[in-house]
Amino acid sequence: MTAFDYPQPAPIADWNRLLDGRVAVVTGGGTGIGGSISRLFAQHGAIIELIDIDASVAEEAVAEIRAAGGSARAHIADCREWDQMQTVGDTILADHPYVQVLVNNVGDYRPLERFRKSSPDSWKAMYDINFFAMVAATKTFLESMIAGGGGSIVNVHSVEGMRGYPGDPIYGAMKAASAKFSTDLALSMGRNGIRVNGIGPDLTQTPQVDYISTSVGSEHLWEAWAPVGRLGWPEDQARVALFLASDLSAFVTGHNIPVDGGTKAGAGWFYSPNEERFTNRPKGL
Ligand SMILES: NC(=O)c1ccc[n+]([C@@H]2O[C@H](COP(=O)([O-])OP(=O)(O)OC[C@H]3O[C@@H](n4cnc5c(N)ncnc54)[C@H](O)[C@@H]3O)[C@@H](O)[C@H]2O)c1
Repeated sequence: MTAFDYPQPAPIADWNRLLDGRVAVVTGGGTGIGGSISRLFAQHGAIIELIDIDASVAEEAVAEIRAAGGSARAHIADCREWDQMQTVGDTILADHPYVQVLVNNVGDYRPLERFRKSSPDSWKAMYDINFFAMVAATKTFLESMIAGGGGSIVNVHSVEGMRGYPGDPIYGAMKAASAKFSTDLALSMGRNGIRVNGIGPDLTQTPQVDYISTSVGSEHLWEAWAPVGRLGWPEDQARVALFLASDLSAFVTGHNIPVDGGTKAGAGWFYSPNEERFTNRPKGL
């Protein structure tokens, strides 16, 4: 057997249309990170089936994608509800038997409950939105991905699942569970041609996390807050999701990439513009 007899990576037919003709389901695909993913994937030729609980943001995304010449359809559903996911799944799979890309993006840290004030109801709420929704959508579309010969699942969790998070250990645990789910599912799915990876956002301006209005007067501190020195945008997340969804990452599976401007790598180190160096002991709050 020569090197040429071994399976090779699929050629990239068009570098400007990395998902050409692929059916991509995006949960929470109306606005924020999911909205940017829907729009960027459509620009790269994907047929977008977005699922969102908010009809107005979903319809806005669909209208924008179509106006730009792309293909998109909105399904209004709550990804925390298994029955609703089955109904949406039936609708999507009736039109496209094979889904090639699934982005599980739905998640929320709100309402933030400190553990001492938390309750079984608040624990369940964190589970439903941050983990159950991911598992439910995966189960809904996985068989169609296998039947179609494979694809890519991209799970959006959080850097807080990849480092210590003091705010709410239940949220942090659910995001860590999502990262672990991605790694574990990847192993059993590799031979079905399905790759599973996760991204862990941080510091990204969205309707859910409004860094801009909460930074008024402290904008100069972005240099200290993020090693890359700036606020993140949904497009920063969408570009990494595109890499993971497309054949660019054909040999990458089971991994979780922090898309965080370097905060996880920084791990307690802060840049001091005054001193022109990093410090692990910022002088002042
Ligand atoms: N923005 C950040 O800095 C940041 C940081 C860490 C993790 N994340 C994670 O990234 C993901 C996206 O976050 P975002 O900031 O873009 O959120 P967002 O709230 O701004 O947008 C979420 C989208 O999902 C939809 N949605 C919400 N609940 C839904 C449900 N139950 N069913 C269907 N659709 C629903 C919303 O309508 C909206 O379109 C989440 O998993 C979040 O936890 C974001």
